[in-house]
Amino acid sequence: MALVLAVVNQKGGVGKTTTAVNLAASLAAQEKRVLLVDLDPQGNASSGVGIGRDQGERPTIYHALLGERDARAAILPTEVPHLFVLPSGTDLVGAELELVAVDARENRLRSALDPLRSGYDFILIDCPPSLGLLTINALVAADRVLVPLQCEYYALEGLGSLLRTIDLVRANLNRDLQLEGVVLTMFDARNNLARQVMKDVQSNLPGQVYATVIPRNVRLSEAPSHGRPVILYDIESKGAQSYLALAEELLGRHHAGTTDEEKAAGPRPQASGPRPQAAGPRPHASGQKRSAPTR
Ligand SMILES: Nc1ncnc2c1ncn2[C@@H]1O[C@H](COP(=O)(O)OP(=O)(O)OP(=O)(O)O)[C@@H](O)[C@H]1O
Ligand SMILES: [Mg+2]
Repeated sequence: MALVLAVVNQKGGVGKTTTAVNLAASLAAQEKRVLLVDLDPQGNASSGVGIGRDQGERPTIYHALLGERDARAAILPTEVPHLFVLPSGTDLVGAELELVAVDARENRLRSALDPLRSGYDFILIDCPPSLGLLTINALVAADRVLVPLQCEYYALEGLGSLLRTIDLVRANLNRDLQLEGVVLTMFDARNNLARQVMKDVQSNLPGQVYATVIPRNVRLSEAPSHGRPVILYDIESKGAQSYLALAEELLGRHHAGTTDEEKAAGPRPQASGPRPQAAGPRPHASGQKRSAPTR
């Protein structure tokens, strides 16, 4: 049964899509079956895995949300084995308004995704930069919320309203919703302000900040223009290694998402509370860097 993670922050440009695409690909590299759902009309997650935003006659997330087509009909494979995408489409721009007039408008994504859950280990939803109806749909469909936070001066601003929105959704629409955690993105260890912001975030949200920190890395910003997750673009880069480490940390937290064989081996050691570290190429358990998945 898939764990559904919504990647949410109403601030623009904080690394939501980069995190959704590369965490999804890194989980798939660990042979988890992953569905990446592009709920942003900008369609960056779709293009990030090589799928154009204009799908022509093909169904997209828009048709699944409006109940016009089964979501299964819209799902496409990607270049990464085990990674599938439910792409965005140009129509999604108007969906927020169209949904207002629809019955159970907050539940549309949940209804579309629920039948798919048994086919995946993880479903990651990339959200637009707002707390509008599309994001509310993601929060209703999700088990957990993953919040990318850029290490800059205003990082914590807006987090309060996001946490209040999560509380409201939990109280009224999805009582099982939990905060998965905060991922610090675009971290530059040479920058004093970034280090201070990291400390502030960790003291404000004790135990909820991932130990893996995503560094600012040019490979992460180049990969989307090639329509590829960074593990297929430059596996050796710090960006690729940091998202592989994030996937590993997430799997450690969600032992349920691991294989029966791994379960039998017992729980993995976990980061207890915030453990700051700038993620450079981190040695994996084996001491080896992971190699790119091949078809
Ligand atoms: N760790 C990183 N290092 C360098 N560049 C990054 C990193 N993470 C993201 N970027 C770049 O920063 C920009 C914003 O990132 P991204 O699109 O992931 O943010 P977003 O939160 O999804 O934005 P939006 O709110 O518009 O959807 C992109 O150009 C992306 O390539
Ligand atoms: Mg985005």
